[in-house]
Amino acid sequence: MILSIESSCDDSSIAITEIETKKLLFHKKISQELQHSKYGGVVPELAARLHAEALPKILEECKTYFDGIKAIAVTNEPGLSVTLVEGVTMAKALCIALDKPLIAVNHLKGHISSLFIEKDGVFPMITLLVSGGHTQVLNVKNFFEYEILASTLDDSFGESFDKVAKMLGLGYPGGPIVEEYAKKGDESRFAFTTPLYNSNRIAFSYSGLKNQVRLAIESLGILNEQDKADICASFQKVAVAHLVHKTKKILKEYSEDISIFSIVGGASANEYLRREILSLCEEFNMEMILASLQYCSDNAAMIGRYAIEAYTFKDFVGLSDIKVNPKIIR
Ligand code: KG4
Ligand code: ZN
Repeated sequence: MILSIESSCDDSSIAITEIETKKLLFHKKISQELQHSKYGGVVPELAARLHAEALPKILEECKTYFDGIKAIAVTNEPGLSVTLVEGVTMAKALCIALDKPLIAVNHLKGHISSLFIEKDGVFPMITLLVSGGHTQVLNVKNFFEYEILASTLDDSFGESFDKVAKMLGLGYPGGPIVEEYAKKGDESRFAFTTPLYNSNRIAFSYSGLKNQVRLAIESLGILNEQDKADICASFQKVAVAHLVHKTKKILKEYSEDISIFSIVGGASANEYLRREILSLCEEFNMEMILASLQYCSDNAAMIGRYAIEAYTFKDFVGLSDIKVNPKIIR
């Protein structure tokens, strides 16, 4: 079995996965959303302290598996450096205590692997990765290799939901809250413009849209619940239209050779996004695949799933060689 740890942002999670069957035997996650909610975003120092409390608690619960552990896997990049360190330090200590090798896992590869926690991997695929830090379209060749076809120039898709929620005083994380408000709103009330619409650039940008929302909020002055819902609906419509517009350009080039399209990352839980991407896939005759809802946001099960593939190639890292790398790859 592999014991995997995830602590790149505000979720403390540990999983145990059986190597031969790829079966998830244990999985627990303690989310810090409530504690960060009053600040409207993740406070890194607070997050690190909460990981230091939560990770040992979860570890206690899976002690019975320790005898069968063959390797320890941990997210080491990208993410918040102070929170990554919590997971990496625990992973190193476990490697020493159990005398087992260490596997370093890139969080993005973890999100891609979330698709295959309950089924075998299918490649190649075009993947839309939408999380709190990333908005990318990738040509994923296998568990280990991918090519970035488009990235965001500034904010990410998920982050823009968080910021809109913050401006409207709705709490954190903004994604699910804005989506709920949007269901009750009129998406045509505010005519926000789609970012980079007249540009040939295959890239994403969300900072301008965020500004358009800020100006709309300022022009209203005092907002009632319906105003908030209308802003959320109008914003979500354009945020998703932007993803669809640029992704469509990519599919024109790739859909002849690649028949699978996937969406991964925390924001892949968004139902409106799923519906719009599904119709795009139908247009290009592609099959859309998704992870189960419980594995869309950060979790250690996806880290364990990737680690199984790395284990078969003995892709281990020395305890003094593992690097914590916070850098987001654009
Ligand atoms: O992958 P994830 O759990 O953490 C990172 O790796 O960043 O993604 C979290 C992001 C947050 O920005 C959150 O607001 C967004 O995903 N998110 C959503 C939804 N659920 C989560 N965005 C839009 N709609 C949602 N339903
Ligand atoms: Zn993530």
